[in-house]
Amino acid sequence: MWWTVLALLCCAWTAQGVNRISLSRMATVRTLLRASNRLEEFVRDHQPDVFNRKFAQCYPPGTPSLRLGKNSERLYNFMDAQYYGQISLGTPAQNFTVVFDTGSSDLWVPSSYCISEACAIHERFEAYKSSTFQHDGRRFGIHYGTGHMLGIMSREILKIGSITVQNQEFGESVFEPGFVFVMAKFDGVLGLGYPALAEEVGNPVFDSMLNQKSVDQPIFSFYLSKSKLSGDHEGELLLGGIDESLFTGPINWNPVTLKNYWQIKMDALEVQGASSFCPHGCQAIIDTGTSVITGPTSDILTLQQLIGATPTSVGEYIIDCARIQTLPEVTIVLNKVQYVLTAESYVRKENLGDTEICFSGFQAQEISSSLGPMWILGDIFLSEYYSIYDRGQDRVGFAKARHVN
Ligand SMILES: *[C@@H]1O[C@H](CO)[C@@H](O)[C@H](O)[C@H]1NC(C)=O
Repeated sequence: MWWTVLALLCCAWTAQGVNRISLSRMATVRTLLRASNRLEEFVRDHQPDVFNRKFAQCYPPGTPSLRLGKNSERLYNFMDAQYYGQISLGTPAQNFTVVFDTGSSDLWVPSSYCISEACAIHERFEAYKSSTFQHDGRRFGIHYGTGHMLGIMSREILKIGSITVQNQEFGESVFEPGFVFVMAKFDGVLGLGYPALAEEVGNPVFDSMLNQKSVDQPIFSFYLSKSKLSGDHEGELLLGGIDESLFTGPINWNPVTLKNYWQIKMDALEVQGASSFCPHGCQAIIDTGTSVITGPTSDILTLQQLIGATPTSVGEYIIDCARIQTLPEVTIVLNKVQYVLTAESYVRKENLGDTEICFSGFQAQEISSSLGPMWILGDIFLSEYYSIYDRGQDRVGFAKARHVN
């Protein structure tokens, strides 16, 4: 029976974390734009986008100038992406820093044929240097505010941690508009949403892993650290399982309501001692690609008033840092379980020169789905709660994240 023992040993070993991808936490594009005094310019340039987003539902379906690519939202959100990790493509391996994004489903990196400013300062994929490169040739485009990101599809060997995926379809961007990408600390994006959300044709990365049986379980999970010290364990993506050392207490599960985003039902969002939003339930997307929590404009405006946040000229909301201790807790109710966020977790602190500025971690964003208006739960929520994405049973689990102080 020695072979059984060996087989057990082998699989226990595999399950115990060879597929650990460490994540780094870096400054967001928004922070970098603000530090270089370009945030106002950016917001002004994207007014049409903001307008479209807000009023899209008022126009007849198919009005071309108002057509909103589902991913244009995403690119706007990448302004607030802060956790990145490494992947490689090709033989020999070419390394890229990507956002591991549960809010989209495509994989793309800059192409060596891209001459946009953004590409010039990022890693670019050099197809001619790889012996395993396969030309696909189909085009992809991601609609984005004032322009389109354009690219071509290719297939390659993809490596993430110790996992190798054969024949992975991915996009090589040949044109990246605007300066969000110039500022970005990441080269590309690796989407972990459902196939229905993909703009590209072909399998999203985790679907390839499932098809090629590269993971033990059809699960991945995220731990996002709150620590500001770089070099620490800033975050971890675990492919194929759960890392029990990174959370405490039970896992509470939520069924996925629409297999597109990782979308679930939210029972309510309550501000301590005051009102409750979406008292009859609404929808929420679990999104590692954004740092904030977003919701419908009218709800968010009321919420900002309840936490005493005041608007700036670029539509951000500022909080007096001295008042953090006195601010109410915000409780999110998911499948009858209460998830409490203290002001320490929903206020984002940033240093601008010598001054510390405190920003509200809530932002207005209109996203509708066939099941009603949606909220986005980003890193503010996900750094408090370890999150588990289960494609086998189509559910998302949360447990209290363990943090070293
Ligand atoms: C890619 O990353 C791996 C792991 O971090 C490293 O060992 C390797 O040298 C890198 N390759 C290149 C070409 O930078």
